[in-house]
Amino acid sequence: MPVYARWFVEYDCVDDLVSLLHSDLLHDHPFLPIGGGSNLLFVHERYEGVLLHSAIQSIDVLRETDSELFVKVGSGVVWDDFVAHCVDRGWGGAENLSHIPGEVGASAVQNIGAYGVEVKDIIHEVETIEVVTGHPRVFQNAECEYGYRSSIFKHALKGKYIVTAVTYRLQKNPTLHLDYGNLRSSLPEGDITIADVRRAVIDIRRSKLPEPDECGSAGSFFMNPVIPVEQYEKLRLIYPDMPHYTVDQTRVKVPAGWLIDRCGWKGKEEGGAAVYEKQCLVLVNKKDARPDDVVRLAEKIKRSVQDTYGITINPEVNYIE
Ligand code: EPU
Repeated sequence: MPVYARWFVEYDCVDDLVSLLHSDLLHDHPFLPIGGGSNLLFVHERYEGVLLHSAIQSIDVLRETDSELFVKVGSGVVWDDFVAHCVDRGWGGAENLSHIPGEVGASAVQNIGAYGVEVKDIIHEVETIEVVTGHPRVFQNAECEYGYRSSIFKHALKGKYIVTAVTYRLQKNPTLHLDYGNLRSSLPEGDITIADVRRAVIDIRRSKLPEPDECGSAGSFFMNPVIPVEQYEKLRLIYPDMPHYTVDQTRVKVPAGWLIDRCGWKGKEEGGAAVYEKQCLVLVNKKDARPDDVVRLAEKIKRSVQDTYGITINPEVNYIE
C-alpha cells in the first residue's frame, strides 16, 4: 500500500545503532524498528517518525559439536536466505520455516512458525540493545517467554529492546518434522533430506499463499484462536467438521481460516482490500487498497466470527499508528 515514512534510517553494525539511539533525530521523534515490514499494517498513509532498519548481515558459526552447530546471524539477514544457507550445508532445524517473508531479527520477535515448527525450537539466544540506555543485553531462549506467535519482545518488553543478532542451534543429523498437515504426502517416497522438505514446503506455500512481490499481503492476517476444550466440544455439536489442533489438556486451537471461510468471507472485498480466494486467513491488496480498507475489512471479519461462533480472533499483524 502507498504508505510513506518521514525518515528511513539503516545501520549495519551495533555501534551505529547505539549512536543512532543517542542522536537528536531519535530523541525528537517517534521511531520504529522494522524488519522486512511483512507483518506490519500502517493504519495511516504517513508515518511521521523514523523507521529504523537493520542491515547487519553476518552469518558466523560460533561453535560446533559432533551433532550441533551454534550459528550467530545478523538481524538484517533475510530469513529465507538464512534457511537456504542452512539447507545448502545440511544444517537441519529451519527447513520447515522455508519461504516465510521477513528477516532474522523479526523471526525472534514474532516467533514465526509453520508446518509443525516454530523458530523458538531452534533459537539459542537473542542479542539486543536496550533502547533507553544503548546497553547490550543477551536473552537466553527461556527468557524470551515464547508462545504461539508471541515473545517477551511483543508484550512485556515491547519497544524496549532492538534485536541485533540471533544465535540458532542447528543439527548435523537432522530429525525431520513431517507430521503437520499434508507435508508428508507432498514428499517423495524413500529417504527424505532437508532439501526435499524445503522444496515441499515452498511448493505448498506457493499453492496456498500469495507471492509477496506479486500481490500485497501480510501472510496470515489473524492468529488461530486458542479456546477451552469445553467450548470446542459445544461448537462441535453444531459444526461437526470444525477442524482443531490440541494445544494441551484444556485448550484447543481452531483454524481462523476455516472460521472466516464458513462465515462466507472468501473473495469478499472492502474498497481495494479482499479476502484471498485460496486461503481466507490472508487479506490481500486486490486493487489500490488503502490502510483504511484493510482495517475495515478486518473489523467486519472479526465481528462476524465473534457473532457466529462466539470466538474472538486477533490479528497476527502488528498495527502501527
Ligand atoms: N481452511 C479453510 N478455509 C480457508 C483456510 C483454511 O477451510 O480459507 C482450513 C483448512 O482446510 C485446514 C485449516 O483451515 O483444515 C488450517 O488451514 P492451513 O493448514 O492452511 O493453516 P493455517 O492454520 O491457516 C497456519 C499458520 C501459517 C502456516 C500454516 C502451516 C497461523 C496464523 N498461520 O495456517 O502461517 O504457514 O499454519 O503451518 O498460525 C503466517 O503466519 O503468516 C502463516 C502463513
